[in-house]
Amino acid sequence: MARLKGFRERLSQERVVQVETEQGPYVVRLVKGVPVVHYALCPHRGGPLEDAYEIGGLLVCAWHRSAFRIGDGRAVHGPSCSDLPVVPARFDGPDLLVDWTREPADATGP
Ligand code: FES
Repeated sequence: MARLKGFRERLSQERVVQVETEQGPYVVRLVKGVPVVHYALCPHRGGPLEDAYEIGGLLVCAWHRSAFRIGDGRAVHGPSCSDLPVVPARFDGPDLLVDWTREPADATGP
């Protein structure tokens, strides 16, 4: 479990922050007050998901409009055949705890 110090305040100001990890680049974003951590590059052709927009519980890539469920990264629309890796995360006081050691959320459900 990694601790990103001061990320509660930082996310409340910036809403979307890209971080470099041993697993590659990830994006941390605040969605209705809940932290969401997902891979920074779109599984379709590597579009920068820091620029993706949120609509109706979906994260939409700005390049070709692949849409992924924000909660688990499942690809539900557009050209991407792969799901988006989403990593468990939660606030702990002023910090954000991210479980990089766990497999990304299982997006194989309905
Ligand atoms: S790169 Fe994201 S949909 Fe094509």
